[in-house]
Amino acid sequence: MSRTAPAQTGGKIPAQPGPRQMVRGQQMATQAADTRTNAQDRTAATDTGRQPDAPGGSLVADAAAQGVIPGAGPVPGAGERATVRLRETGPDEPPRYAPEWLELREPADAGARAHDLLDPLRIRLANLPGKAGYVIHDLGCGTGSMGRWLAPRLDGAQHWILHDRDPYLLHFAAVASPRSAADGSRVTVETRRGDVARLTPDALAGASLVTASALLDVLTREEIDTLAAACTGAGSPALLTLSVAGRVELSPPDPMDEEIMEAFNAHQRRDGLLGPDAVTVACEAFSERGATVRVNPSPWRLGPGEAALTAQWLRGWVGAAVEERPELAARAERYLHDRLAACEAGELRVTVHHSDLLALSRPVGGAS
Ligand SMILES: C[S@@+](CC[C@H](N)C(=O)[O-])C[C@H]1O[C@@H](n2cnc3c(N)ncnc32)[C@H](O)[C@@H]1O
Repeated sequence: MSRTAPAQTGGKIPAQPGPRQMVRGQQMATQAADTRTNAQDRTAATDTGRQPDAPGGSLVADAAAQGVIPGAGPVPGAGERATVRLRETGPDEPPRYAPEWLELREPADAGARAHDLLDPLRIRLANLPGKAGYVIHDLGCGTGSMGRWLAPRLDGAQHWILHDRDPYLLHFAAVASPRSAADGSRVTVETRRGDVARLTPDALAGASLVTASALLDVLTREEIDTLAAACTGAGSPALLTLSVAGRVELSPPDPMDEEIMEAFNAHQRRDGLLGPDAVTVACEAFSERGATVRVNPSPWRLGPGEAALTAQWLRGWVGAAVEERPELAARAERYLHDRLAACEAGELRVTVHHSDLLALSRPVGGAS
């Protein structure tokens, strides 16, 4: 985690109750401060990107009900018991990610990102015609962690266009945006609300770079195809980071690790989402369109210093697995209890494998 450079940001994500202090009511109240409806507040996502149904076992259910931040794992809606089915807003309601979850994972993400992909990207950017500055589109920006990490690592003036469908997160991204590049050049941002799965080459016209972080695995094959077509059609390179790889290692091991991992991966693949298959599909989609693709590992390496993130991740991971396979509930309760105890005692280490992908599309006329 030591590779994280301090981001030069113009502001901080506004203080909110931290995940450990936040009880469920506060969590929902914080979310309700935005203009969203109660119906929207019932929707929660894991980084697996779907609205969960009811968790099964009581510890797992309690964890989901009281301790899981939206984004980390299955979370019941306001006022619901964990045993009540959650999908009340209809299948079309987009999943939600709490800024607290994105903030909690940001240092681990920063430490995990594949630095080896930066040099080929810098070379590509340096060879672009026109030196007026770079236009960078960050898709599914959340609170803007990708820009905070990348902008200070690239030379030259940059204008970041931050895309997300959640206006609440876009607000945080704008407030805490990076202000200067590696060489001190100016960094500016604008936000765009919309569905990144429907981007066209026109929407990316003039892009120097497209980025995304923790996005691909919550998309479908069709959506990744659309994304690849938009990037390659605009002649833009794409740095698509931190997609789950479907592999997790825990130390010390437990006989249930594998079973939970498989159930979690199945949960990720619900409703046609790609989950751990996303990077393979993205590689195909970009390669078929003439891009050169590189994939590097970007694992979270979580130890005692990341106990808060690990605990949240565990709750979400096990909760999603039980939601997928309710018959695991009783044994998963014991498993989660033991894992959380080991985490609190500083005895647990977890490696959550991810992949970063760099796709270098053929430049087209007008890419600047
Ligand atoms: C796991 S979060 C990652 C956020 C951020 N990139 C980061 O790394 O912290 C996924 C983000 O993608 C956004 N998102 C997911 N699908 C989207 C879509 N189809 N259109 C626009 N935004 C989307 C979510 O609102 C959320 O902010």
